[in-house]
Amino acid sequence: MSSQTLREARSFEEVAEKAIPAEEKPAFHLSPRVGWMNDPNGFSWYQGKFHLFYQYYPYATKWGPMHWGHAVTTDFLHWEHCPAALAPDELYDCDGCFSGSAAVLPDGRQLLMYTGVQCERSLYGERIETQTQCLAVGDGCNYEKYEGNPVLTGADLPEGSSIHDFRDPRLLQRQDGTYDCFVGSRPADGSGQILLYHSDDGFHWTFRNVVIKNRNRFGKMWECPDFFELDGKWVLLTSPQDMLPSGFEYHNGNGTLCLIGSYDEEKMVFEEETDHAVDYGIDFYAPQTVLTPDGRRVMIGWMQNWDTVLQHRTVKMSWYGQMSLPRELHVRDGRLFQWPVRELENYRCAGTEFHEESFSGKKSFPGVSGRMADFEVGIAPADGAEIYRSFSIQLAQNEEYHTTLSFHPSENILKIDRKYSGSRRAIIHQRRAQINADQGVLKLRIVLDRYSMEIFVNGGEQVLTAAIFTDLSADGIVFSASGDIKLHGMFYRLDMDRQA
Ligand code: FRU
Repeated sequence: MSSQTLREARSFEEVAEKAIPAEEKPAFHLSPRVGWMNDPNGFSWYQGKFHLFYQYYPYATKWGPMHWGHAVTTDFLHWEHCPAALAPDELYDCDGCFSGSAAVLPDGRQLLMYTGVQCERSLYGERIETQTQCLAVGDGCNYEKYEGNPVLTGADLPEGSSIHDFRDPRLLQRQDGTYDCFVGSRPADGSGQILLYHSDDGFHWTFRNVVIKNRNRFGKMWECPDFFELDGKWVLLTSPQDMLPSGFEYHNGNGTLCLIGSYDEEKMVFEEETDHAVDYGIDFYAPQTVLTPDGRRVMIGWMQNWDTVLQHRTVKMSWYGQMSLPRELHVRDGRLFQWPVRELENYRCAGTEFHEESFSGKKSFPGVSGRMADFEVGIAPADGAEIYRSFSIQLAQNEEYHTTLSFHPSENILKIDRKYSGSRRAIIHQRRAQINADQGVLKLRIVLDRYSMEIFVNGGEQVLTAAIFTDLSADGIVFSASGDIKLHGMFYRLDMDRQA
């Protein structure tokens, strides 16, 4: 039985979505049915479809009492909206159904675990949250909250841990049919830690161990953990708040962190061996993964970041927030490699090959333009030439607008700059990444949807993601070089109506 709050959200979204023309939304990146979207939640394979829930506030294009939006897909690119799955309608979650994950019960029903938030106001009106972990059970469309909620509370926390920062449960179904759950938490040192809970049936949970402690190394509180085995290693993805920069690896504010190492399942301890950022662009946060039936580990992230959300004041919109392209993951040499899901290639139209043996200055190529595209480009110094000084590509370009990707081989810095993308807020518009490029030789794959760009560097070794709100008429792609370069590329427009 659904509550009044959920019924209202469902009827509101059904009517309100009709007022949004499809062309005003991204073509193949998931955006909210209406209103606001943040983190991906409950990314899972259930009854023949991939399900993706998301942090959702249907009534405005800003964050509000969190609901769970819901969409399904079979190819990660064509999404079908389903009615909102959860609303903040119980005392223990009356101030929000925060992020969480999904698993399957032995009887075939889907189990959702999420963070319930209940607030009090301090004397000064400050919001003081109590966060607990809660369950809902459903059939892939309708979900019933568990009568035993909340199933994990402050009483289940190790000593000194905060009841205000205890969130984002990540369920993991074990081979023997039991369940583990990894939750982000803030210990007494004020930073982050990941807690492990265990359950035989999915409903009764006990604390097992602190799997890893941040010890104030990577930011403070660790949000949205995901934990999985891949290519013989264990990978912990988390999104730390309050990061400090470290060279070009991490930037200030909300960041993403990938720790790769080993997991001692008996001792329940994760030992990290390497660490790096998940994304080096401007807009990426809170990723989650799913294991596909054909054995791929696929990650999706919120293609926005808390430090850049003010951007929405630049445009009048009835929706705000997008998910990244789902990306296939691999671990190689202590790094996480990301590559667009292979399904994207099915929607490439006839390719345009472009190359230039030697050029300096500006260059565009016939047939190489558009705002929905997938292309690869290789750059190197022209034969016999000295190493060039710089190289750049302007995307979503016309006389008024452009977003630029530029590369300086003397320091191996790749920079994304969306200052001229139409933004009217003083938010972050640029980010630099230190990349591997021997003697100015570099390979990029660039995926453009109407309002975003994702740049995969050197076979997915690093990725830079950015959302833009540039008018769709700006669809030029212009290459420039200072010094002689050799360029070779394959360009494809994307047509999502093409028969795969
Ligand atoms: C991360 C986050 C989560 C929380 C959710 C609230 O972006 O802060 O930790 O569950 O967003 O919407």
